Amino acid sequence: LDNGLARTPPMGWMHWQRFRCLVDCDAYPDECISEKLFKTMADKMASEGYLAAGYEYLIIDDCWMAKNRDAQGRLQPNATRFPSGIKALSDYVHSKGLKFGIYSDYGTKTCAGYPGSHGHLETDAQTFAEWGVDYLKLDGCYADLDDLEPGYIQMGKFLNQTGRPIVYSCSWPAYQEPKGVKPNYTALRETCNLWRNWDDIDDTWSNVTSILKWFSTNQDRIAEFSGPGHWNDPDMLIIGNFGLSYEQSKAQMALWAILAAPLIMSVDLRTIEPKFRDVLLHQEVIKINQDALGIQGRLITTINKIDIWTKPILPKGDKGALSYAIGFLSNRVDGYPYRLNVTLAQLGINQSENYKIQDVFDPMSVEVTQSEKIFVRVKPTGVVLLTATPISAKQ
Ligand code: DGJ
Repeated sequence: LDNGLARTPPMGWMHWQRFRCLVDCDAYPDECISEKLFKTMADKMASEGYLAAGYEYLIIDDCWMAKNRDAQGRLQPNATRFPSGIKALSDYVHSKGLKFGIYSDYGTKTCAGYPGSHGHLETDAQTFAEWGVDYLKLDGCYADLDDLEPGYIQMGKFLNQTGRPIVYSCSWPAYQEPKGVKPNYTALRETCNLWRNWDDIDDTWSNVTSILKWFSTNQDRIAEFSGPGHWNDPDMLIIGNFGLSYEQSKAQMALWAILAAPLIMSVDLRTIEPKFRDVLLHQEVIKINQDALGIQGRLITTINKIDIWTKPILPKGDKGALSYAIGFLSNRVDGYPYRLNVTLAQLGINQSENYKIQDVFDPMSVEVTQSEKIFVRVKPTGVVLLTATPISAKQ
């Protein structure tokens, strides 16, 4: 969507993966979906370096609403959990230097059963703009498959008419693709700043790998539609929660960077262990993700169960050759760091330049000529992330 927003993949925090639809504030006062939770997370985003690293949007997902619209037909928050109202929460988030995102659903109900936007698109777009919303995640539960594309396009027009810049996150492919319907990616690119392509992520490594499998299998069909202003979205980062080891967390971060995926954390920022926080805040990985070219990386080859992905990035060398991020993702479980060597030519990086190779998580620097082999050791279900920069490039 050419609205000047999301020129690099959006970065932020969203509650769904970690906090789901926990609405019992009597039993779980510190975890329930409430203004208190979002204010606390906003505080942490600002004070713990996330905002400074680029995580800008604080996004409310499902389960914030009251069960009914107000007398004027407008959406309203649950009054017990959001006693100050959404505008006040949005003001608070903005006061921290963050941007504010919210959730609704194109269908008759949200997935969790709260009021849907169907029949209320214009009102809801206006309400969100009045509340100072900067990012809308529009879900697609309880809607006809055929109705999704025109409906999302219509909502995009209403958002645009508000005059407020609002990042528009769509979900219609996530409802069409699993049913075998091929979404119109040209319409997505024109309508949305990002879109969920596939199933929800859950808190396991197998979810991460199955999403990656879907992205590699479909890369020839979808990758070209990703770029500045319009991104494929493989769903939230689950780093720092219960399901991923440290190595797997680095792997998710590295692969989401290579995919030019939105980096939307969903973790309790009050209790996250420092080593996971460091993965989320890793400057060099974020730099790869936020590269100005915005090219979605691709799986190039698999050697002995190591998937090798590459993403062209800046800077360019004197002769015009691009740099690359190269990710080696291990699907191996034999418990030692597997040894692998490849040439740049094997990865399709077959240019006249010689390259400086750097290991992003384990800094060291090696210069290689085109014909030389690069050696890596990849831990089980872990990653090695390299950058290859033309030696003539000015960094
Ligand atoms: C389905 C979406 O894909 C999830 O990310 C989340 O928003 C839930 N719906 C909320 O009900």
